[in-house]
Amino acid sequence: MKHGLPNDKGKIVNLKTSSHTADLIERTQELKRKKNAVILAHYYQDPDIQDVADFIGDSLELARAAQKSKADLILFAGVHFMAEGAKILNPSRKVILPDLRAGCSLSDSCPPERLAKFKKENPDHFVISYINCSAGVKALSDVICTSSNAIKIVERAPKYRPILFAPDRNLGRWIAEKTGREMTLWPGSCIVHETFSERKIIELKVHHPDAELIAHPECEESLLKQADFIGSTSQLLKHVIESAKQTFIVATEAGILHQMQKRAPTKTLIPAPPNQNCACNECPFMKLNTLEKLVHALETEGPEVTVPEAVRLQAERSLRQMMDWS
Ligand code: 13P
Ligand code: SF4
Repeated sequence: MKHGLPNDKGKIVNLKTSSHTADLIERTQELKRKKNAVILAHYYQDPDIQDVADFIGDSLELARAAQKSKADLILFAGVHFMAEGAKILNPSRKVILPDLRAGCSLSDSCPPERLAKFKKENPDHFVISYINCSAGVKALSDVICTSSNAIKIVERAPKYRPILFAPDRNLGRWIAEKTGREMTLWPGSCIVHETFSERKIIELKVHHPDAELIAHPECEESLLKQADFIGSTSQLLKHVIESAKQTFIVATEAGILHQMQKRAPTKTLIPAPPNQNCACNECPFMKLNTLEKLVHALETEGPEVTVPEAVRLQAERSLRQMMDWS
């Protein structure tokens, strides 16, 4: 899906919506108009937040939407690296994140100082970083990629230079296999996508022999090997909508099921079960954002996400390189 999924603004209150939620939604719409604000949301956000957003998309689509936004205020309903990306690409806008603690385990696995040390010791390496990284890491990278354009980006990397792929080793391994490019992989991973139980997925496949297993490339190698379709969140959604199949076991964060159910109401969707009897297939960082915090963020125009200008300029260079190559 090239341009993500704009929401049907004004058609968001359903009968099941509690009056408290309805009040928060109404207040959000009011504040958006008053402040000339736009809400960009990732698919892993709570359904209420997705329904109140102006634009929902995968990381690449959200970065593009942020880059071209003319709103005075961009509220990013996602995690910190996404809001930073919006600020890097559209610095004259004020960017706010409902909860500044909304981080990312992948991003945390690659502190800029450690990448700087690697680069010092391996100056010949061409550094490709997955967008799930901090502004500091983006500033040290040659080019950025997302799960929807990683193959294209790796194929464009100079053939005469060794590649470091950071920080997701699972995505990196999958891309290396797809492109045939040898790459050094940073040892990072996503706590959510490493949680799925292969044993339980096999059991599900036995009970639903016609179901397709669809997976995000942040999942572990052994799970990806069993998957019928692999793609970014938007690509998974598009696949469910367009596939002739009826039933899907979905191996990514459970928030995406809301859009899948909305856009493909006749399909049967089974969230891939985690190892433990926990809600580990929900990203604890994404879920820090709530409708209450959204309203508070719009009211106070904070917490604001800023990036020091020297870092922003370097990070913009690697993000723009990605935009040019994809
Ligand atoms: P995409 O939406 O780009 O597939 O990324 C998933 C993700 O992990 C976001 O944190
Ligand atoms: Fe990070 Fe994983 Fe959460 Fe995505 S799902 S924000 S990669 S921790």
